[in-house]
Amino acid sequence: MAVALGRGVGVAEARPVGVAVALGVGVGCALGVLDPGGSGAPEVPVVPPPPPHAHASATKANHAPSRTKPRISVRYRHQGGGCGVPAGGGAEGPPVATEQLTYGSYLRIAELLDLQHPLSDPPHHDELLFIAIHQVYELWFKQMLHELDAAVAFLNGDDLLRVGKAFRRIHAIQQILVSQVDVLETMTPQDFNAFRDGLNPASGFQSAQFREIEFLGGVRGNEDYLRHLDLTGPERERLERRLREPTLYDALKAVLRRNGFDVSSHDALVATFRSIYQDDASHYALYLLLEDLIDFDEKFALWRSRHVLMVERMIGMKPGTGGSLGVGYLQTTLSRRFFPELWEVRTVLGQTVQP
Ligand code: HEM
Repeated sequence: MAVALGRGVGVAEARPVGVAVALGVGVGCALGVLDPGGSGAPEVPVVPPPPPHAHASATKANHAPSRTKPRISVRYRHQGGGCGVPAGGGAEGPPVATEQLTYGSYLRIAELLDLQHPLSDPPHHDELLFIAIHQVYELWFKQMLHELDAAVAFLNGDDLLRVGKAFRRIHAIQQILVSQVDVLETMTPQDFNAFRDGLNPASGFQSAQFREIEFLGGVRGNEDYLRHLDLTGPERERLERRLREPTLYDALKAVLRRNGFDVSSHDALVATFRSIYQDDASHYALYLLLEDLIDFDEKFALWRSRHVLMVERMIGMKPGTGGSLGVGYLQTTLSRRFFPELWEVRTVLGQTVQP
């Protein structure tokens, strides 16, 4: 795969939506007040109230008043004074008339829909699909990291019921990640070859969020990745932080330790998992947690398998745009596991324990 990176495409070209957004302070901080003309002059857009279905969810999030009465309010242009704080240490800047929140302004639909820039010229029909599907993956990766961070925090607080809730969502997202390969496979190798050369040397190999998920989960051994890649400063920082921070596996081991189990070595960990599985009735919450983790690991491995098969179907044994062997490289990643001991214990379950 390849993603259009560093070719003058993306955020820098996105234009702000052509309206200012009127909000209560909370959501207003998140969205900011936009100055479409960049002139600094106050702008008073006249926009009719949105249809009810369009802003129903947004009004809920914003606790906005009745739909029948559009609310026009006045806020101050953000000039470096901080969220909702006028610039200049409290002196209020020029007032900006703003309008009621809409579906489009809250979700930044105009900017979102302006982020797909095919490189083929004339644009090949399938390149939009190729770009959109990668962007959708990145959004789901973002959501997964959000949920995994929450799961780690719940583990740290020994709140195993909430860990289970977080994993229900993570598993549902993982199923989408695997199944949406179907959509990409409606593109044929001929379609892909028509624009593939223009994507060099960009590659999914450079997905920082994918690597973040691996690092947070506890996959190690590919830290070298950081040295070889042309990452942005914030991406590098995030990945280095992930490598320093305790992993999901560390958080699990800490829970087990607090419950009196030995996790001090590989063998001790396998023995601990074995005792939990063999007497699940006595450790039911921990047993369910282990099953959530093996599900997470299995579904991640399923994505790897699905991806490599799709890649072989698409490019055969050609090298990847990222410069690897392609399928040959991807096959070496199939054995990566987050929780190797949790897989290993399966082999000894049901066997008599040796004295
Ligand atoms: C036509 C579709 C695709 C092809 C032909 C393709 C091909 C490849 C190849 C050959 C690699 C190995 C690195 C390289 O040399 O480039 C790779 C890695 C990767 N691709 Fe794709 N890919 C496709 C779609 C996708 C999609 C939709 C995603 C979703 C984000 C994705 C994510 C990744 C990731 C995360 C890696 C790194 C895997 C690892 O290092 O473990 N790819 N891809």
